[in-house]
Amino acid sequence: MSLRRLFSVLLFLCGLVVLGGVPLYRGLSGSASLSYRFTLVDHTGLVRSEKDFAAPWKLVYFGFTSCPVICPTELQKMAQAYLRLPETQQRLIQPLFISVDPERDTPEVLSNYVDLFLPNLIGLTGTPAQSAAAQRSYGATSRKVFAEGDQRGEYTVDHTSFIYFLGPGNRLAAQFKPSDSAAFMARRIADILASSP
Ligand code: NI
Repeated sequence: MSLRRLFSVLLFLCGLVVLGGVPLYRGLSGSASLSYRFTLVDHTGLVRSEKDFAAPWKLVYFGFTSCPVICPTELQKMAQAYLRLPETQQRLIQPLFISVDPERDTPEVLSNYVDLFLPNLIGLTGTPAQSAAAQRSYGATSRKVFAEGDQRGEYTVDHTSFIYFLGPGNRLAAQFKPSDSAAFMARRIADILASSP
């Protein structure tokens, strides 16, 4: 086999790997299929979708009100990051809390909870199917965990814990993890807003 021939065979094989790899990669990362949409009920009882907010940017966290530690910590952090921003930037952002425990988190339960963090934090709940659809569209997951031997049906909810920052067109601009500090989040959000037309 000449060198040139060998080269074209190798190119052909690489092409196969690349073509075969793209859909697989997309399937694994999942990001191509995430739409960041929802239809839910807010803590005042109004039906809301991702399009129903005046502010062009959103900060979104998924959790549940009876979560003992992680949800309050992350919501507190989201609130602190938001409050670190200049008021001109705050006005561009709608903070949202979406319940992964819609059966217990009624609008009334949510309305008492969101006030603990920010006056303009909106709580969102709905039917279990609506909550599940919202989670899927963000790539978030949750599952009920029942205490062993518990006869009362008490449960907690295991769930992914990310803070999503979305911009105009419902595009994901940043995704923060539990180890990111409020200061880091605020700097990143301020930078993104400053560099957006
Ligand atoms: Ni939690």
